[in-house]
Amino acid sequence: MQEAIILVGGKGTRLRPLTNHTPKPLLSVAGSSFIRHQIAKLMDAGVGHVVFATSYLAGLFEEEFRDFTRDLEISYAVEEVPLGTGGAIRNAGRLLRGPADAPVLILNGDILSGLDLRDVLQRHEAREADVTLHLTRVSDPRAFGLVPTDEAGRVLSFLEKPKTAEECITDQVNAGCYVFRRSVLDSIPTGREVSVEQETFPELVAQGKRVFGHTTDDYWRDLGTPLAFVHGSADLVTGKATSPLVERPAEALIHPTAAIAPTARITGGSTIGPRAVIGPHAVVDRSIIGEGVTVAEGAQIHDSVVDHDASIGSASLLREAVVGCHAHVGAENELPAQLRLSCGIRIPAQGVRVSGTAAACAAVH
Ligand code: GTP
Repeated sequence: MQEAIILVGGKGTRLRPLTNHTPKPLLSVAGSSFIRHQIAKLMDAGVGHVVFATSYLAGLFEEEFRDFTRDLEISYAVEEVPLGTGGAIRNAGRLLRGPADAPVLILNGDILSGLDLRDVLQRHEAREADVTLHLTRVSDPRAFGLVPTDEAGRVLSFLEKPKTAEECITDQVNAGCYVFRRSVLDSIPTGREVSVEQETFPELVAQGKRVFGHTTDDYWRDLGTPLAFVHGSADLVTGKATSPLVERPAEALIHPTAAIAPTARITGGSTIGPRAVIGPHAVVDRSIIGEGVTVAEGAQIHDSVVDHDASIGSASLLREAVVGCHAHVGAENELPAQLRLSCGIRIPAQGVRVSGTAAACAAVH
């Protein structure tokens, strides 16, 4: 039976406040929690047992899958103290049951990719590899550690983020999906934090282990930042990225219990959650609107996430914003791009305007 580990123990700090109460892999993208998209993909690839490596808000994963009845066994390897990506893999490895040379699929819990998992498993077996890493090509490698390979695909080294153009000797970067020979997991140290990228992989290469890259040009996006998160969700809705849970591409995914005014425009792969209300002439473009959210008349929301039970007042404008749950943006606000509003915060009507306000001064003089 094919086994897999998903790393889901990170705090997801870059996605706060969405991750204050919900771990990143349990946030909803294109109508389902992200981890359910990953589970569906793993099942399509023949995986029969998956181990969740949990730490932050660990109990919520067991809650999410308590009623999961499909043909997949789920185990939980809970870290009381986060062990880092390498330590988490080692710790989750204890719960695997396959033989020492069995290939184990390992996924980061925040990567949306079009990688063919059966294909990477096949390549791993054909090369008799100890470890195979999925590599993707990026246009600007400066934000990533680089992974150069030789002509046969063997990994030569793991390089820190390049600072100069000369240091950009390849555009291949770690795409956050690996196949490990099971026995290799046991070589990772226990009892302390270990980074798979900075420690485990360089050590395996230095020891002469058979570490290979599997480079593809498939769709790939790390959903770790707010903008990447909303764009990943929109790509799933519009079909640019695929998931077994999204049946057909659409301009928007609207929950049947949401109420959308006929003159509202929902575009760009936006998702509208259960019981959300979108008022007349409102525009929601490439955004995620959570359960129970109200968007009033004429409001415009672009490239943003509005978490559950928040409300956006009439004629307000949001760009690349993250609005925490139960927050309220009053009427006629124009928020600066990339603003994050804490859960429950209230901005009064006309409280914030990037482009200046014509409203009369309040009686403060
Ligand atoms: P940021 O805080 O925003 O950087 O997000 P993150 O905590 O998710 O970190 P990062 O994106 O680097 O993590 C990549 C993947 O590894 C994610 O799926 C995390 O859930 C997971 N991860 C990171 N650290 C740990 C850890 O210590 N234990 C476990 N089990 N998983 C981890």
